[in-house]
Amino acid sequence: MTSSPQIWMITGAGRGLGRALAESALEAGHIVVATVRGEHELPAHDRLTIMTLDVRDRGAARDTVRRAVEHHGRIDVLVNNAGYGLIGAVEEASEDDIRSVMDTNLLGPLWLSQAVIPVMREQSGGHIVQISTVGAVGTMPLLGLYNSTKWGLEGFSEAMAAEVARFGIRVSLIEPGALDTAWAGPSMRFSSPSDVYDEQRTELFGTAEVPWPPGDSAGGTTPSDAAAAILAHVASDNGPLRVLIGDDAPEQVAAALDLRRQDYSRDPRFPGA
Ligand SMILES: NC(=O)c1ccc[n+]([C@@H]2O[C@H](COP(=O)([O-])OP(=O)(O)OC[C@H]3O[C@@H](n4cnc5c(N)ncnc54)[C@H](OP(=O)(O)O)[C@@H]3O)[C@@H](O)[C@H]2O)c1
Repeated sequence: MTSSPQIWMITGAGRGLGRALAESALEAGHIVVATVRGEHELPAHDRLTIMTLDVRDRGAARDTVRRAVEHHGRIDVLVNNAGYGLIGAVEEASEDDIRSVMDTNLLGPLWLSQAVIPVMREQSGGHIVQISTVGAVGTMPLLGLYNSTKWGLEGFSEAMAAEVARFGIRVSLIEPGALDTAWAGPSMRFSSPSDVYDEQRTELFGTAEVPWPPGDSAGGTTPSDAAAAILAHVASDNGPLRVLIGDDAPEQVAAALDLRRQDYSRDPRFPGA
């Protein structure tokens, strides 16, 4: 039990990383408002309140924050976790594919951040934790629309961190590498494939078949290890804005940053070129 229990609100908490975060926060003695869309795998707990929220709905996001504050008096930590991946070349993705992934991964966290900032400003403190990805630093072919949602998330969140620091509000960007969840399996969505990208699909994923055939386990960092690292970060007084999760994450980010620097360095005016 922690010495000072906090009120945590976690979106997409029915399974995967969100569920692990809810469980770890409860284990640490905190009070948790977990939002789910429907069926979920959360066990009952006396410090757990479950609310229904589809993060694409701005009005519902505001309403859920309002109800959480009515219930618990404050929100100390908001974790914008809900999200999913989309496999498809830019040329393949339909308008629906694109709007849906932007609505969920980019606008969902934006609506919730907007709803919670006045609450945290009023209480002179709080922490907004955005679940981003190493794919918000680099990109991967056939994952570009997903990448763009998380690049967008990082863009507004970095600026927002500077805007709200004066009100005592912290913002963190959590960048996991591979997590052992349903993200790369049953949760993954796919644009309607064109056979001109089959060769690339095979090179990257070992199969041109989409949706992917079901696999045993995604591999990667366990959700509970990832959750423990996020809880430790939130508990620390002065952590960095960006937090890498998993042994594969640092190298992926370093490679992406090197690529950018190499590209800029082709301009002789670039410092150090
Ligand atoms: N797994 C990875 O390798 C990995 C790596 C880096 C970052 N991430 C990020 O980590 C976060 C959590 O994903 P995960 O790995 O735990 O995958 P997951 O097991 O598939 O869980 C995703 C969660 O998001 C929820 N969700 C999806 N769309 C939603 C919507 N419109 N409104 C509300 N909830 C919604 C899902 O709810 P339902 O149960 O209702 O579908 C589910 O609870 C995501 O933001 C993902 O992009 C994952």
